[in-house]
Amino acid sequence: MTTLEAITPTTPQIEGANFLNLLIVDDERSIRDACREIAQSLGFNAFTADSAEHAYRILESQGIDAVLLDLRLPGAGGLEALNQVKSRRPDAIVVVVTGYGTVQSAVQAMKNGAYDYVTKPFSLDELKILLDRVVNHLKLKTENRMLREKIKSKQGFGSIIGRSPEMEKLYRIIAKAAYSTHPVLILGESGTGKELVARSIHFSGPFRDKPFIPVDCGSLVPTLIESELFGYVKGAFTGANQAKDGLLAIAEGGTVFLDEVGELPVDLQAKLLRAIQEKEIRPVGSTKRVPINVRILAATNRDLELGVSQGNFRRDLYFRLNVLSLRIPPLRERRQDIPMLASHFLDRLSRASGQERTLSDDAMKAMLAYDWPGNVRELENCIERACALTTGPMLHVGDLPPAVSNLDASRTFADGKIVPIAELEKQTILNAIAQLNGDKLMAARLLGIGKTTLYRKLKEYGSQE
Ligand SMILES: Nc1ncnc2c1ncn2[C@@H]1O[C@H](COP(=O)(O)OP(=O)(O)OP(=O)(O)O)[C@@H](O)[C@H]1O
Ligand SMILES: [Mg+2]
Repeated sequence: MTTLEAITPTTPQIEGANFLNLLIVDDERSIRDACREIAQSLGFNAFTADSAEHAYRILESQGIDAVLLDLRLPGAGGLEALNQVKSRRPDAIVVVVTGYGTVQSAVQAMKNGAYDYVTKPFSLDELKILLDRVVNHLKLKTENRMLREKIKSKQGFGSIIGRSPEMEKLYRIIAKAAYSTHPVLILGESGTGKELVARSIHFSGPFRDKPFIPVDCGSLVPTLIESELFGYVKGAFTGANQAKDGLLAIAEGGTVFLDEVGELPVDLQAKLLRAIQEKEIRPVGSTKRVPINVRILAATNRDLELGVSQGNFRRDLYFRLNVLSLRIPPLRERRQDIPMLASHFLDRLSRASGQERTLSDDAMKAMLAYDWPGNVRELENCIERACALTTGPMLHVGDLPPAVSNLDASRTFADGKIVPIAELEKQTILNAIAQLNGDKLMAARLLGIGKTTLYRKLKEYGSQE
């Protein structure tokens, strides 16, 4: 009987309900009933328990916001019960009920985290006033939490940082794209946050509980991409000792993110197009088709239209992927986001290392003036590097990579100064990458150096990737 009474809250009238859950713990039935009546009249959802054990069970299974706790429960030291409540629901407001003449224990309870106390016997009016205060306190707490969330989201969209008009526009498109099932083509230079945006589209949408599977079309060998995407049957090729499902099938109900889709070989482009159009795939080595239900997001830092006109990318697939398209502007076109991004990365590093760090004005000035050919990723690396190299709390311009701190080689020429060859080389390489919108392979080709050399040099400059 008591158990039933304890677990079933009596529903208050919806009108005037405050949607807060109050747990009343008292071994005297008449007191429980009286308190419950008052609580309900104030709009609480009231739960009751006649022992400490009962109370703990309810606290573990219900979202209790406030507790009215008799400190003189049989079988439990009053303060012990309070501690148990607090350990189960640290955020709950606890009002303790003490006996006449035991103010001492009330004081101790307040020290141990109780919000307030009331002495038995108390009048119903007294209880009403007390519970009213509890409601106001809890409301304020919720409002504060909502305010904090709001401030947090003022930085951007979910984990994407930036409040420039360009980014605001992007957030609106992401929010819309999240609730559509059409493919989205995400365009942007290297390091602008294409993968971040793809994740954001998936995780803000209605199928966020389903898988999000990124596939890097640029780094896998073509035969591997095919077997990864479409799966294979046992014996399809040497080493295929067991059948394997393709990622397009595994992502069932979710999203497959085709990163660097411009790198996809032409024959695979045809297979992908068929898969998207017919919503089914044929695993390698199989004659059977498998239905798929998956959303396609794709990204590229290449000019796909150019690829189409040059015959490297199928026009029909381009149109399929490009139903919705979204371009992330390079960082140099939204410089106002630089301080917010920089402090975001600094904060993250500070949290990880426990050491607070700030940027000096001259460092910030240099960062604002720099063109960031590697975009947000380069900024992230720049901050990480500067933090790793500096011991003090302040990062100065001298702590930044040379490309950022001493940005203008041409000014040095104008000054008639002698410039070391290594510096000229660096500027030439960085400028080439910037001009080619971050396409490092093309930069290496045009500069007449190997790709490995280019990556090694970039690493030396601290702006790798
Ligand atoms: N607006 C942003 N706010 C916070 N972090 C960002 C933002 N844009 C990019 N980043 C961070 O920068 C890094 C690069 O982002 P991401 O990998 O999404 O870029 P990308 O466009 O896919 O680059 P690539 O073309 O080189 O693959 C990541 O660590 C990402 O978290
Ligand atoms: Mg990427």
